[in-house]
Amino acid sequence: MKKNHMDKDVYILAIESSCDETAAAVVKNGRQVLSNVISSQIELHTLYGGVVPEIASRKHIEKINQVIETALVQADMSLEQMDAVAVTYGPGLVGALLVGVAEAKAIAYGAGKPLVGVHHIEGHVSANFIEHPDLEPPFVCLIVSGGHTHLVVVKDYGEFEILGRTRDDAAGEAFDKVARAVGLGYPGGPKIDKAAKEGNPSAISFPRAKVDENPYDFSFSGLKSAVLNYINHAKMAGEEIYVPDLAASFQKAVVDVLVSHTVEAAKEFGFQKVAMAGGVASNSGLRKGMEEACKREGLSLYYPSPIYCTDNAAMIGAAAYYEYINGARAGWDLNAVPNLKLGER
Ligand code: KG4
Ligand code: ZN
Repeated sequence: MKKNHMDKDVYILAIESSCDETAAAVVKNGRQVLSNVISSQIELHTLYGGVVPEIASRKHIEKINQVIETALVQADMSLEQMDAVAVTYGPGLVGALLVGVAEAKAIAYGAGKPLVGVHHIEGHVSANFIEHPDLEPPFVCLIVSGGHTHLVVVKDYGEFEILGRTRDDAAGEAFDKVARAVGLGYPGGPKIDKAAKEGNPSAISFPRAKVDENPYDFSFSGLKSAVLNYINHAKMAGEEIYVPDLAASFQKAVVDVLVSHTVEAAKEFGFQKVAMAGGVASNSGLRKGMEEACKREGLSLYYPSPIYCTDNAAMIGAAAYYEYINGARAGWDLNAVPNLKLGER
């Protein structure tokens, strides 16, 4: 395991506010979660069928102090005992990110603690370290969330090589759009997952997109259109749609592509370890499909518990630890970077 040369335990207060969860956590030595508080705004945004950025920012402002306070209380620690304050500074919604960044700067400055800026996607990947003490880079990681779909090699802590990415919709976005089209509501991922359990995945044949130039890139817009066309045709013909079959067939089309790209990459580049991260990594069909494929190919598979797959601050604390022990410190001019790229600082 990567050594902490400081010879003492490192406690990090981590803050996450990039989308619709206001979250704070206290993490010890990057892998031990002492508290993980999440205030979700999902119910509020459900009314509008998706996240409304302005509402998200306002809610973060209302909740953030309370969430941080609770994280410290639950960890039974004080701000003075923290070694650093970490915060997600991108990518995400600019107004939402700004709330966390401003708060983290104020707290760190006031308490005389170092500040660490964390890349949200690096946080998702690092969620895997929390429950898998044996997991260390290098490994291949499939990152599938509401805003991102990346296939990467995690070369070292905080060091990534991107093998593929989505050309259009993110995997979670496709789940959300299809769910909305069949009236399942927001967020669609968990609802499709649930409906799919009752359905037949081979009931409807949906396309598995191949992207010619890069075998590891993804594209979900064709699949989404195929689902919307199917729904329209059924409506025009006056036929009833059996949602579980549609959900299962759609989910299988997404899962097949995610699994085949990931396993192919691990084989081609010679990695024995495969990990998954992001909200969609909690999809039961994806977990099952990836488990079967990895078993067949003799690969070890890692993924976080659902609570660490969707947005949380514990994953930010895990990522921040490795940044911190490598000497990364943010200045007081740290700003939100809504389109921060993976591998950029
Ligand atoms: O990682 P996350 O919480 O936020 C982003 O950083 O985007 O991911 C949220 C996404 C949403 O699109 C949601 O529908 C999807 O993850 N999701 C799922 C499941 N749980 C959450 N998708 C499929 N199956 C699930 N069980
Ligand atoms: Zn996320």
